[in-house]
Amino acid sequence: MADEFVERSLDEIRFWSRIMKEHSLFLKLGFTCEDTQLIQEADRFYSIFENIENRALAFTPDVDPRVIYDFNNVVHTATCHIWAFKRKVLGLIIQCKILGSNFPLLVDHVSREAAYFMNRLKQLNTGTLDPLPDAVINENVFFLKIMADHAKFINHLLDPSERKLVEQARDFSHDFDQLLFQAIDLDSMRPQSQTQPLLDQFVDQNRVSVRQLRDFKKTARDLIEACRIKSIIPPLLADHVFREASHFLEILDAFDAALSHSK
Ligand SMILES: [Fe+2]
Ligand SMILES: [Fe+2]
Repeated sequence: MADEFVERSLDEIRFWSRIMKEHSLFLKLGFTCEDTQLIQEADRFYSIFENIENRALAFTPDVDPRVIYDFNNVVHTATCHIWAFKRKVLGLIIQCKILGSNFPLLVDHVSREAAYFMNRLKQLNTGTLDPLPDAVINENVFFLKIMADHAKFINHLLDPSERKLVEQARDFSHDFDQLLFQAIDLDSMRPQSQTQPLLDQFVDQNRVSVRQLRDFKKTARDLIEACRIKSIIPPLLADHVFREASHFLEILDAFDAALSHSK
């Protein structure tokens, strides 16, 4: 039990602290050079999460769970602060108080990822992780929206002359919006919807689409890295969204295994 707590905590922190670190960089890249205060704040978050990432990587599996409990609290506080920063930036953009190239949906998106991470840390420390039928619905509602947003960002950041890729990104955006609505319907029909066959089918169907989107992102990332397509997508952002899709796919694979185990 204690081992599982340590392993799960470190896995989550290793994945999400790198994500939070990169968000700081993406936000910074989207500010204008006059917004020195915001750039400094973003830089500070970058080093905070870089430090957390390094600490998480340095722990060994036999670390005292109480040390990890305290570490989770420290990371939770830092994540709460970056969440507040992202929401502040969103407000500034929406009220036209700052210019720059951060889409409001992107800033909202990265704040939702911070909120998700905060919630996971809290669940770990209070021992309140969702039981499987709730986890299946909650994780899908969260990640399908994340995937639908990614498709929209890719669509808008590719050069308009990349017509075939733009079209593919738009199709993914539509597919994931549909999958998200299905997930919200299943959510609304809880607990009656949480039958083994329905959850099985839900996970299977989403897995097929997430695998396709993950492969599309991998191709896009490789093409961007090799400078073979025209876009304003930084290579690190292409890799970032690819990693998030892979992460969701791992969660779906784990659900699939857990659901077939409980048969
Ligand atoms: Fe992200
Ligand atoms: Fe994301």
